[in-house]
Amino acid sequence: MVLNMSLTNPFGVYVHWPFCLSKCPYCDFNSHVRHGGIDEARFLRAYETEIAAVSAQVPDRRVSTIFFGGGTPSLMQPSSVQTILDCIARHWSVAPDVEVTLEANPTSVEATRFRGFRTAGVNRVSLGVQSLNDAALKELGRLHSAQEALDAVAIARSIFDRYSFDLIYARPQQSIDSWAVELKRAIAEAAEHLSLYQLTIEPDTPFYGLHKAGKLPVPDEDLARDLYDLTQATCADAGLPAYEISNHARPGAECRHNLVYWRGHDYAGIGPGAHGRLTIDNRRVATETEKRPEAWLMRVETNGTGVTLSQKLTAGETADEYLLMGLRLAEGIDLERYNALSGRTLDPERISFLREHGAVETTADGRLRVTPRGFPLLDAVVADLAA
Ligand SMILES: C[S@@+](CC[C@H](N)C(=O)[O-])C[C@H]1O[C@@H](n2cnc3c(N)ncnc32)[C@H](O)[C@@H]1O
Ligand code: SF4
Repeated sequence: MVLNMSLTNPFGVYVHWPFCLSKCPYCDFNSHVRHGGIDEARFLRAYETEIAAVSAQVPDRRVSTIFFGGGTPSLMQPSSVQTILDCIARHWSVAPDVEVTLEANPTSVEATRFRGFRTAGVNRVSLGVQSLNDAALKELGRLHSAQEALDAVAIARSIFDRYSFDLIYARPQQSIDSWAVELKRAIAEAAEHLSLYQLTIEPDTPFYGLHKAGKLPVPDEDLARDLYDLTQATCADAGLPAYEISNHARPGAECRHNLVYWRGHDYAGIGPGAHGRLTIDNRRVATETEKRPEAWLMRVETNGTGVTLSQKLTAGETADEYLLMGLRLAEGIDLERYNALSGRTLDPERISFLREHGAVETTADGRLRVTPRGFPLLDAVVADLAA
């Protein structure tokens, strides 16, 4: 199996900033609160070291997308973002139309930094609004009000050509009618992109404990399904169809960085707990770094890299990842590419079975995709198709 890694293939750089002002009770991302402050300059040097180390493994790539995720990267100084972007540009060639996204929390303090981020080279922001309802925001443990979030969206709109925001739905005690109103309001504020996530009760979070104790009445399966259907229909009517199970965009305004993951392209993972996928000597390699921020810092300072895992994937694993990620997209997967990666074809009987049940469809140009009817059952569909 030979993977074609030309300069024209998309290549993303993910930069993880693992700190937040407080920990939201539903969140299991690699995010930490440091009341004693953070030595940002020291962390910055470690990010530069890590970028140098990863780029030495895959020097001949052109960076098409960069994503600052977290945690809360909007807590970084704009000058730190600038330093990281400059470092990336010293080590790789960067496409002239590079997409540079930064995740921001919509507090007034962070919004004051937006112009600085723009000057540093960020050209897209993704705001974690989560809800437009003050009581829900309080329950989600957020530090901002709905009005503060809307003000941050307005500031983002005035500074960036491209912005998106996230909402969480299927929240405790949420009704169809209240979500319909909130979603319409959100669409009126959105430009080209919205991420709409169903609340997941993650193990080892305070929400998990509350839920187990019966103190967090989340929508049952039927209501969650109705909320999902309403979300899909309302967004599609407004010209923001789902291009991925939780992501909606006007055609052409999709987040190009996330498409790198879902289309199975390569990306470098920089920072504590960041994952990467790199093609080295025609083999796809999965990388992971130390998750704990200070341990990552010391590892980078001692070893020149925070990488704790660098594992060559087998052909089967590479193909299964492509299937798993690609079927989240409305466009689905290219069956020929799947065959080339895995060295085998997907079981035609399983495809026929799922097709007869209306869960998948094959297109004239050789793609397999999940139908709108199949999307709520995506996990089961993928499990059925994967080897
Ligand atoms: C890395 S997180 C957050 C970025 C930023 N720190 C913030 O909170 O605004 C990215 C998104 O994941 C979503 N998210 C996090 N935990 C979730 C959960 N348990 N269920 C559903 N969505 C979740 C939220 O919408 C969040 O904005
Ligand atoms: S949701 Fe965002 S702000 Fe809240 S803990 Fe997670 S990463 Fe931090």
